Amino acid sequence: MKLTFIGNGNMANALIVGLADNYEIEVLGRNEQSLKALHDSLPQITTRVLNEVEDISDKNIVLCVKPYSLPDLAPKLKGEALTLYSVLAGTSIESLKSQINSKKYIRTMPNLGASHLKSMTTITGDESLKEQAIDIFNQIGQSLWLSSENELDIATGVAGSGPAYLALIAEAMADGAVQQGLKRADAQALVSGLFDGFAPLIANDNPADIKDGVMSPGGTTAAGYAAMERGGVRNAMMEAIADAYTKAKELKAKN
Ligand SMILES: NC(=O)c1ccc[n+]([C@@H]2O[C@H](COP(=O)([O-])OP(=O)(O)OC[C@H]3O[C@@H](n4cnc5c(N)ncnc54)[C@H](OP(=O)(O)O)[C@@H]3O)[C@@H](O)[C@H]2O)c1
Repeated sequence: MKLTFIGNGNMANALIVGLADNYEIEVLGRNEQSLKALHDSLPQITTRVLNEVEDISDKNIVLCVKPYSLPDLAPKLKGEALTLYSVLAGTSIESLKSQINSKKYIRTMPNLGASHLKSMTTITGDESLKEQAIDIFNQIGQSLWLSSENELDIATGVAGSGPAYLALIAEAMADGAVQQGLKRADAQALVSGLFDGFAPLIANDNPADIKDGVMSPGGTTAAGYAAMERGGVRNAMMEAIADAYTKAKELKAKN
């Protein structure tokens, strides 16, 4: 299957690295130097500068530009694509339909993990492309099909923004360790190892079971856990998801 990427920034590069061995890849961008560098690193793909008028007829397009670039880019894309895969945050399928012609549309939300082929990607859109879409985005990590754009907006506040929330937790834990006298490098190593070991735990158990498994009566975890509840960490996290969802809807309404 051939995929035509439009845009060759961070998200496109991550996807292309994941897909290059199993898909025929063409990349259209606007910066000749960065396109050449990409081609040098992956000689099996083709790259070129986007034409002033680009015919996208019968192509499988993977749109990887920033949402604000769309009004400038869309008028240059002529013809009707076969499929349009969009990674644009906050850009609805309705908005894509009004700007770019395609037989079918898919909207996705990868996350920063894509740079290590560990994205948690959510996908929605034309049901007939479900398997194909999951296949494509599984190349950069895990993907989850959702049944509506509303669900994708909720998921955006969890998996899309999630690396920032977990970074706050990681930083705070390291700061706490430093405050108690641990060296910064050791605190960082500790937290990094903790997240590494936590990934398989959360993949296999529910959070309450993990917590119950580590919290013994009157022990250290129970003391620390009570401090987190006093600090409102649970409520702050739930509010973070709620506010991110509200913002995702606002952005979608604007785009
Ligand atoms: N990064 C993430 O973690 C993440 C997560 C989820 C979703 N996304 C979505 O992924 C999309 C891309 O993000 P990114 O981080 O990859 O951005 P980026 O690194 O800035 O890449 C954007 C790419 O689009 C190209 N471009 C911009 N305007 C263009 C135009 N008019 N014609 C042709 N090419 C154009 C840029 O070219 P130049 O090199 O010349 O600037 C660049 O190659 C965004 O819509 C974002 O919402 C990103």
